[in-house]
Amino acid sequence: MAITWEAERPSDYLTRLASSDFGSAYKSLVLAELGLQPGATVVDLGCGPAADLAPLARAVGSAGRVVGIDHDASAVAIAAQATLAHPQVEVEVGDVHRLTLATGSVDRVHTDRVLQHVDDPDAVIAEAARIMRPGGVAAFAEPDWGTLVIDSPDPSIPEAYRRFICDQVIRNARIGRQVPALCEHNGLTVSRVLPVTGVFRDVATADRVFGFQRVTHRAVEAGYLTAGDGAAWLSHLRSASLFVSLTLFATFAERS
Ligand SMILES: C[S@@+](CC[C@H](N)C(=O)[O-])C[C@H]1O[C@@H](n2cnc3c(N)ncnc32)[C@H](O)[C@@H]1O
Repeated sequence: MAITWEAERPSDYLTRLASSDFGSAYKSLVLAELGLQPGATVVDLGCGPAADLAPLARAVGSAGRVVGIDHDASAVAIAAQATLAHPQVEVEVGDVHRLTLATGSVDRVHTDRVLQHVDDPDAVIAEAARIMRPGGVAAFAEPDWGTLVIDSPDPSIPEAYRRFICDQVIRNARIGRQVPALCEHNGLTVSRVLPVTGVFRDVATADRVFGFQRVTHRAVEAGYLTAGDGAAWLSHLRSASLFVSLTLFATFAERS
């Protein structure tokens, strides 16, 4: 198995995930469903190194405005370089819990795999609702790690592995299923929840997304797997005909 993730900058991993078959398929679906019009203002919360800023810029055209916000200054610097050809794009370092944008000032909000990591997803959705104009639409694309399915001769091992990820690795691991209720809690109307399931059969691709070796070692240290089960699990992943799947839910919500 090619273990390369840890040696890379997170921005490299994010860029490659965004351009993988799964990444580009669900990103296109989300963008199409967001219904961006030329001239619109759209904010990408947690934009990272700009996977979505150029497509957003193309959708709103030269009369539109795209604002990318991320708290990681190095990702924002990469995003600024990557979008030089799109003068309608602005990127800034900021915390998505506390936006500086004015109330009712944007047409669309886009977030992709951000709420899973934040301290308080409810507060971030409240901010998204605040900055949208009446009629504005937000898209929140978030995985639900409770949907992680990995085939194994001993099903108790992937179940323990998934439990470790949900308990200890991803801060808001079951956010995918929680976003619709959080939108409603913040006065938004949920118009659609679009499920997108990625199925990974290639070990190297799956390892880039899931970091099997690193996560398995941590699961053993945390007592979720025995050392023997951890070794058997990694050996199975290296040698077996792989089946890994994860579902991401894209929730679309409108401000009335
Ligand atoms: C999984 S990455 C997704 C990046 C990008 N949306 C994409 O699709 O490639 C999550 C991003 O959220 C950002 N992030 C996490 N918490 C944040 C916060 N409180 N404020 C701003 N950005 C945050 C991280 O720095 C990271 O760039």
